[in-house]
Amino acid sequence: MRTKVAIIGAGPAGLLLGQLLHRYGIDNVILERQTPEYVLGRIRAGLLEEGTVALLDEVGAGARAHQEGLIHHGLELAFGGARHRIDMYGATGKTVMIYGQTEVTLDLMNARKAAGLTSIYQAADVKPLDFDTDRPRVSYVKDGVSHEIECDFIAGCDGFHGVSRASVKPSALKTYERIYPFGWLGILSDTPPVSPELIYSNHARGFALCTMRSTKRSRYYVQCPLDDDIAQWPDERFWGELKRRIDQKAADELVTGPSIEKSIAPLRSFVAEPMRFGRMFLAGDASHIVPPTGAKGLNLAASDVHYLSQAFREYYDEKSSAGIDGYSARALARVWKAVRFSWWMTSMLHQFPEQGEFGARIQLAELDYVVNSKAASASLSENYVGLPF
Ligand code: FAD
Ligand code: DHB
Repeated sequence: MRTKVAIIGAGPAGLLLGQLLHRYGIDNVILERQTPEYVLGRIRAGLLEEGTVALLDEVGAGARAHQEGLIHHGLELAFGGARHRIDMYGATGKTVMIYGQTEVTLDLMNARKAAGLTSIYQAADVKPLDFDTDRPRVSYVKDGVSHEIECDFIAGCDGFHGVSRASVKPSALKTYERIYPFGWLGILSDTPPVSPELIYSNHARGFALCTMRSTKRSRYYVQCPLDDDIAQWPDERFWGELKRRIDQKAADELVTGPSIEKSIAPLRSFVAEPMRFGRMFLAGDASHIVPPTGAKGLNLAASDVHYLSQAFREYYDEKSSAGIDGYSARALARVWKAVRFSWWMTSMLHQFPEQGEFGARIQLAELDYVVNSKAASASLSENYVGLPF
C-alpha cells in the first residue's frame, strides 16, 4: 500500500490530523493497535478550548459538540472553606466547552468512516522505518500477516507509550520530565453535577475537582497516593472523601450514586524535543504530557495537528518545506506555555509531601491573589481558555 501520510495512532491527535489532511486533499492511512471499542472506552479529557472546537467544525465533525456540549463562562476555585469564581469570559471574551474525549473520538471516527478513509485497527507490531531517508515506510502485522505502507511522511500520534518516539535514537532526543508524587482517582457517575461550573479545590486532605460530562453525568477527581489501588476505594469511601474536600454548600448539595467508571491516573509533565525526525513528526501525547489540572492535553494534541496539517498543506500545495521545517519550533512554543500553566495549576492546588506549613500558606496567598487581582485572574483565564494558535 502507498499513501502520502501514514498516521500511527487513532486517538484524538491521529483522527483529527487524518480529517484535516483529507480536507486538504492529502491522502492518509491510520494504523491503530487497539480496537475502535477499546479506544472509545477510555474515559479521559472533558474540556475543549474554542480553538479545538473550531478544528472539529473545520473538518465537519463539530455538529454534535455544539448540540450536546456545555458552554462554560467561568470556573470556581475553592480554598479556605469558600468558593471564588473566575470570570473567564469577562476577562477574555472566550468560553470553554464540556464535551467528552470519547465523544470527540466517536465523532471523528464517524467522519472518517463517512469519508471512506482507510483505518487499520488491531495493527500489531507497528514500526516506523527509514524516516531519515526520502522513502519512509511503516510495517505492521494484521491477523498474523505482515504488511508495509510506503509513504511521504509518518505522523507519530501514538500517545506517551507509543512506538514512534521510541523508534528515535536516544541521542537525537532531549527530554524534560517532572513526575508528581500523587495521582488522580476519578469516577464517572450518572448523577447531576454538583454545580453548573467546575470546582477546583485546594484542601489540606488533598486536591479535588468537580467536573461533568453533561447535565446528567458527573466526573469527580480526588488527589490520591500513587500506590493506591482502586480496590481500596469503594464508592462510599470516594464520596466521603470528596465531600470532605469541597465547601460545605457543595458537600450538602452533592448527589451521589454508583460509579460507572473508576480509575487512577499518575500525574506527569514531560516534553521530548524536537518534534520532527527527518520525515517523521510527533504530535500530541507522543511528544508531551501535562498533568490534567489545566485540562490541556487533548487541546495540545489539537493545536499540534493544526500546525502539522498546515505544514503538509504548504508542502503539497505550494511545494514549500518552510512549514515542515518550522513545525517543531512552532508547536513547542505553544506546548511549553501549556506545560508551564499545567505545572502552575498543579503546584497551586495539590498537597505536596514536602511543602510544609510555609508551602501551604504560599498556595493560599497565591489563590487569594488569583481571585482578587484582575491581572492575575485574567492571566489564569487566558491560559485556561487556550492561548491562540
Ligand atoms: P492518545 O489519546 O493516547 O492516543 C494514542 C493512540 O495511539 C491510542 O489509541 C493508542 O492505542 C495508539 N497507539 C499506541 N501505541 C501504538 C502502536 N505501537 N501502534 C499503533 N497504535 C498505537 N486533556 C484535556 O485537554 N482536557 C482534559 O480535561 C483532560 N483530562 C484528562 C483526564 C485524565 C484522567 C487523563 C488521563 C488525561 C486527561 N487529558 C485531558 C489528556 C488527554 O486525554 C490526552 O492528552 C489525549 O488523549 C492525547 O491524545 P493523543 O491522540 O495524543 O494520544
Ligand atoms: C476535566 C479534567 C480536567 O483535568 C480538567 O482540568 C477539567 C475537566 C474533565 O475530565 O472533565
